[in-house]
Amino acid sequence: MTEPSPTSIRDALQGTAPTGAIQVQGWVRTRRDSKDFSFIEVNDGSSLRNLQIIAKSSLPNYAAVQRLTTGASISVTGALVASQGKGQKWELVADNIDIVGTADDSYPLQKKGHTPEFLREIAHLRPRSNLFSSIFRVRSRLAFAVHQFFQERGFVFIHTPIITSSDCEGAGELFRVTTLDPAAAELRTTDGEIDYTKDFFARPTYLTVSGQLEAEALALALSKVYTFGPTFRAENSNTSRHASEFWMIEPEMAFCDLNGNMDLAEEFVKYLIADARKDCPDEMELFAKFVDKELLARLDFVVERPFQRITYSVAIDLLRKSGEKFEFPIDYGLNLQSEHERWLTEKHFKCPVTVFNFPKEIKPFYMRLNEDGKTVAAMDLLVPGIGEIVGGSQREERLKMLEENMRRHKMDPADYKWYLDLRRYGTAPHSGFGLGFERMLMFITGVPNIRDVIPFARTPGSAEF
Ligand code: 4AD
Ligand code: MG
Repeated sequence: MTEPSPTSIRDALQGTAPTGAIQVQGWVRTRRDSKDFSFIEVNDGSSLRNLQIIAKSSLPNYAAVQRLTTGASISVTGALVASQGKGQKWELVADNIDIVGTADDSYPLQKKGHTPEFLREIAHLRPRSNLFSSIFRVRSRLAFAVHQFFQERGFVFIHTPIITSSDCEGAGELFRVTTLDPAAAELRTTDGEIDYTKDFFARPTYLTVSGQLEAEALALALSKVYTFGPTFRAENSNTSRHASEFWMIEPEMAFCDLNGNMDLAEEFVKYLIADARKDCPDEMELFAKFVDKELLARLDFVVERPFQRITYSVAIDLLRKSGEKFEFPIDYGLNLQSEHERWLTEKHFKCPVTVFNFPKEIKPFYMRLNEDGKTVAAMDLLVPGIGEIVGGSQREERLKMLEENMRRHKMDPADYKWYLDLRRYGTAPHSGFGLGFERMLMFITGVPNIRDVIPFARTPGSAEF
């Protein structure tokens, strides 16, 4: 008999008829023995569900099969038959069980009910748990949905550089990229400064905090573009919502104002939620059962209703009049803190809120100055449980104004000649935003810590694996 090519457990479980000979490969979840059989639950990560293997005592290696433990890898051939047992439609009666890799009782995922903190320490093994395999399947599906959303709408996918010489957000949260040996004295100029002309790129370079500036160049040629890539921030915020390396989706649209931008962000967020609800039903049910009981009701509510939109100054008024005791002060001209964002969306409006028109002093140089001369056409989309999930703006397309903004932000326009060229030649109103992919995943899965929605998290003081 020739070996059949392996079937995923997902496909096996979706079978419509018994099948003579199939092969599945995966990791043992549990084994229990009766008089003449062993029942082995095997999982290959293609689905939340396990496939039950029936191992008869007539198997030549039955003694070894009876020693199989949780975590071992096996390759099984046999017939897919209707299951006698409850809870599954199909099971596999094994003709042959190859024990590919054993696992002994030091395998850490024996018991259920490990804490998230413990599981983070075994980030290389946690994808074998139901919760984490579900998170990473949803992550994959949603990455696909991101492309689907933009491709359906005629956006062009562009790749922006990961190494860059500009600080898009101007917040100084940059990881430096260099090949210089910090100990080499000859790299210093006479006044002791490091001479970056001797560095690899002959200038200071960093890991990107955002692909926006480059995306603007492409939007002012291809009209509608988006990036989806890793971004890096050396901000020392040890919170459940900040990662030092995270993935961001950044659309950029020419001939589009802030309203069009807010509309797109809202449509996008709803699309991703609806996609997960539709395409990952088992996983979503698992999150609702074990992570957050309110999850599905909350998500369905978010998809069905329009988001609230308020200006920054209305937000400040509401917060001032809230009667709530906040840790951080509320004053026109100050940034909204996470506690303020959460009050607006969780307590006051009880739905996602887009705050727009922020004071120019608290926003980066590239945002478009409004008629009032005080605010810029910025927007932040806030969601319950998390706070800011999207940040975006209409960009300053007027050359003089942009140069002025740069000087106000202590930037030298000469360093950004290429960016200013976009305003010199065929400038056009344009807008875009960034959606934090991990924050979106937290919102959709209900998982409360960003470290648990990315396979290997990078956070201050932590870059293991
Ligand atoms: O608001 P931010 O800083 O906006 C920008 O970077 C713009 N250049 C985007 C644009 O207009 N093209 O970041 C955008 C989003 C935030 O709303 C948040 O969801 C996420 O990126 N984000 C983070 N996610 C995880 N960890 C961090 N440290 C994050 N910083 C921002
Ligand atoms: Mg922001």
